[in-house]
Amino acid sequence: MPAQIIDGKKIAAEVRADIKIKVDERLALNKRAPGLAVILIGDNPASQVYVSHKRKACEEAGVYSISYDLPANTTQHELLSIIDELNNNTEIDGILVQLPLPEHIDTQLVIEQIHPDKDVDGFHPENIGKLTLRIPALRPCTPYGVMHLLDTTGEAYKGRHAVIVGASNIVGRPMTMELLLAGATVTVCHRFTADTSALVKQADIVIAAAGKPGLVKGEWIKEGATVIDVGINRLENGKLAGDVEFEAAAERAKWITPVPGGVGPMTVAMLLRNTLTACNKHQL
Ligand code: GUN
Repeated sequence: MPAQIIDGKKIAAEVRADIKIKVDERLALNKRAPGLAVILIGDNPASQVYVSHKRKACEEAGVYSISYDLPANTTQHELLSIIDELNNNTEIDGILVQLPLPEHIDTQLVIEQIHPDKDVDGFHPENIGKLTLRIPALRPCTPYGVMHLLDTTGEAYKGRHAVIVGASNIVGRPMTMELLLAGATVTVCHRFTADTSALVKQADIVIAAAGKPGLVKGEWIKEGATVIDVGINRLENGKLAGDVEFEAAAERAKWITPVPGGVGPMTVAMLLRNTLTACNKHQL
């Protein structure tokens, strides 16, 4: 039986519609709209596309956003000063600095400059630490969105084996903590793993987040597994492809996400959710 498709585009639209209702409720009570600052440095084409989606989603949900489009030669000092200003701006609840940053800027320093209460990407060590300690605050958007997709399938976490392929700070590591928090047994594969295929073959839940097109072979997928493809890779022919061999995997999986239209839209939706959460927590 071919897999059921998890429609991330539709589910993300539902999350955004729910956020819009909650924003409107705030406005009806004469409270201000949540505010998000989106900072883009340089001209990475993929980053430009992601940032434009984030800004458009803000507008549609009634979230106030300020945009910074800064040249690639912006200094680290200039960026840190802007973050300081935004940390002190009482109309801004969330600060998002699109990654990757140009090489002359220390990414970790920038992440740590953002006040943890305004860290709507959930990348600050305080927020990662809280997720790890089972007291989640602002949660990294992509893993948070993946959890929402998994929740919609109605499949259990407890007693099931989740295998994550990729151990990045943005996806693989926080994804591990989310799945552990939900009660799954979690294995993380990375570039030094001896036999990734043998581990994926045991997985009830597969999270592919390596950024390598077609890395996860269809034949690795266990019958009835749930497959979440976080990869968004631009092929030479201009098409987008995930990290999973979609057609072959869909023959064996029970649930699978497409690329595009799976995890990508959820990242944006959860960014808005985090912005609303930050706003509700600190701007009563
Ligand atoms: N680059 C790729 N994914 C992300 C994300 O979720 N947030 C930010 N800020 N940059 C990214």
